[in-house]
Amino acid sequence: MKKYLSVLLLIGLLISSCDKGSQESVSTLEKDIQELMANMSIEDKIGQMQQVFDGFYPNDDDLIKAVREGKVGSFLNVMGADRISELQRIALEESKHGIPLLFGRDVIHGYRTIFPIPLAMASSWEPELIEKSMRISSVEASSMGINWTFAPMIDVTWDPRWGRIAESCGEDPYLASVYASAMVKGIQGDLNDQTAVAACAKHFVGYGMSEAGRDYNTTYITEPLLRNVHLRPFEAAKDAGALTFMSAFNDLNGVPTSGNEFTLKTILRDEWGFDGTVVSDWASIEEMISHGYAANRKHAAEIAVNAGVDMEMATTTYAENLKVLVEEGKVSEEVINERVANILRVKMKLGLFTKPVSQHVSVDTILAPSHLKVAREMARKSIVLLKNESNTLPLPKDIRSLAVVGPLANAPHNQMGTWVFDGNGDDSVTPKVAIENLLGKRMNFVAGMEYSRDKSTAGFKEAINAARKSDAILFFAGEESCLSGEANSRGIIDFPGVQKELLIELKKTGKPLVLVVMAGRPLGIGDEINMADAVLYAWHGGTMAGPALADLVFGDYSPSGKLPVTFVKGAGQIPFYYYRKNGGRPSSPEDFTHIDDIPRNSKQLSLGFKTMHLDYGIAPLLPFGYGLTYTEFQYSNFSMSDAKLKANGTLTVSADVRNSGNYEAEEIVQLYVRDRVGSITRPIKELKGFEKVHLKPGNLRKVTFLIEPEDLAFFNGNDYVIEPGDFDVWIGPNSDEGLQGEFSLE
Ligand code: BGC
Repeated sequence: MKKYLSVLLLIGLLISSCDKGSQESVSTLEKDIQELMANMSIEDKIGQMQQVFDGFYPNDDDLIKAVREGKVGSFLNVMGADRISELQRIALEESKHGIPLLFGRDVIHGYRTIFPIPLAMASSWEPELIEKSMRISSVEASSMGINWTFAPMIDVTWDPRWGRIAESCGEDPYLASVYASAMVKGIQGDLNDQTAVAACAKHFVGYGMSEAGRDYNTTYITEPLLRNVHLRPFEAAKDAGALTFMSAFNDLNGVPTSGNEFTLKTILRDEWGFDGTVVSDWASIEEMISHGYAANRKHAAEIAVNAGVDMEMATTTYAENLKVLVEEGKVSEEVINERVANILRVKMKLGLFTKPVSQHVSVDTILAPSHLKVAREMARKSIVLLKNESNTLPLPKDIRSLAVVGPLANAPHNQMGTWVFDGNGDDSVTPKVAIENLLGKRMNFVAGMEYSRDKSTAGFKEAINAARKSDAILFFAGEESCLSGEANSRGIIDFPGVQKELLIELKKTGKPLVLVVMAGRPLGIGDEINMADAVLYAWHGGTMAGPALADLVFGDYSPSGKLPVTFVKGAGQIPFYYYRKNGGRPSSPEDFTHIDDIPRNSKQLSLGFKTMHLDYGIAPLLPFGYGLTYTEFQYSNFSMSDAKLKANGTLTVSADVRNSGNYEAEEIVQLYVRDRVGSITRPIKELKGFEKVHLKPGNLRKVTFLIEPEDLAFFNGNDYVIEPGDFDVWIGPNSDEGLQGEFSLE
């Protein structure tokens, strides 16, 4: 015991001396910032607050002059390792104060090695692998001189019409928070390292709620919803050390987020203590004029700077107006000093004042085999098996012949997905190429359509002939990359073009039909799922999507992904998310009579007076957390350490998960909770934990989750509260199924 105590004492001493050390370095950093700023003129300070895009200056001479004169704090999309190194050298050696530059770029899901789109990566439920993927992205990007990226995008969204759902982590605040933290750690790595890249948590905040899923649209979010859902991933990003945040485009409850003091100041700075840089989104300060919130550019600058935006992206309302605004007393010098200190702090934390400027580009870095290996693993784990009737999949490797059909079977650029600036389609291995490598002439490839929106049926005949002479069909359908992402929202979320018609024709051949969907959003695929024998939802899987799909199709890997979003039956069902409220008149699928089955002269006023659609009913197409694999997993022996959770106690909840099938596979075991009564109404289920287990056939694992009172906290409109009462708890394979128990919080 004594020995134990002295060890504790030693640890305590070490911690306190580390604390002292870090406090000292913090104060040294702050001292350095103040010393630097003491010599800076107001013009020098405003220069730091400007981010300029490539092409802003008519030529490189003007650009270099601006750097020498300290008129630029950061560049966006200025590319070329040598060019960046030279600009950085000029900033450090030839500018008045020797302040280095931040070189920003959107490296969203890979630099040259392209990983699956973020929504796909979110289907892996494997934060460690996502962290690794983001690290690789930064290693590649930093080798070109990039030291700041505008990721992670952690807007929670319930709307598959919104094109930017592709960039998001899906609908759930808990899952998005886990990923936010992993992505920040992966992007930034060790800040002392040459490969460190500053992360940017975006878009702060609420952008994912753009009305009707129309990009850039207005958002209305109550404070409980903001705090219980939309802010959570951002707080996780901040806690993980994100150096920067980006304010958003959207108007939030009447106040644009790039001029929103409540979110930028009260929450981000005062409550969370964020001391990094807030950059605006592209022109989002100036756009406050169009929002009807600022009268002109000068007014926009005044609002944004006072609200808390440190740096302006792309437009120049700060550069043009801040000096005058200070002279007029509309913006205080303290505000300017605070904004500039936030920028310098990031530059110092990133070590830009001392790191060597030359980037040591290594040819082994870009598209390194080890990077492609991780990209393949990430792509495999991002694919979700939605249906597998009669064990259609996996296909035997010695299959006599296989028809590979569809507009996305061989679309190297499109499989990379949205937000790819530096990836190159030529580096992609398509499913057609990967399968051909395995089957050779036993593969019959006919695209059948030129692209997903193709309305021509001219290629059908050849595709059908290929299907007829084959033992099975793989049909690669979905959307090209340009149909999702920024500004690419859709009102209709079904398969575009004549893909469904081609699927109908392929179905008529009677051959086993596997549908592989490659898309940037959860599409409305109710009819298509019914027609196919098996469905793999592969999203846009990046450079290595082809080999990853081949791994799954031929059984080298059992699918393990689970949906990070609810799949709706059609756009009219939006928004539909698993943690919705019960309402006063909940319904269950049994209450539902489909519109086509209501008798013609029915005099009934309503069928049950319950919440539902007469056409969609109440169930989504597929629930959040859903995904199959080639084996079967059985859940049993649900147990809890107690039926009561004390205010300062913990509760463990466990279940046995057994692989009762024939394939080695992974299962994502999920923990959900329902707070039955609250001071405001509570969701019908909330994800509180998950664990991925890898099991050989016949093997069993006891999965245990810990629940603490803090896990049950929520914001009720006045405060964050942990309310005593009764709770349901589930351990299961998705948000719709599971073994259930109950406990009370005392
Ligand atoms: C997007 C941001 C992006 C920025 C810079 C904007 O249009 O909304 O997500 O980081 O452009 O490219």
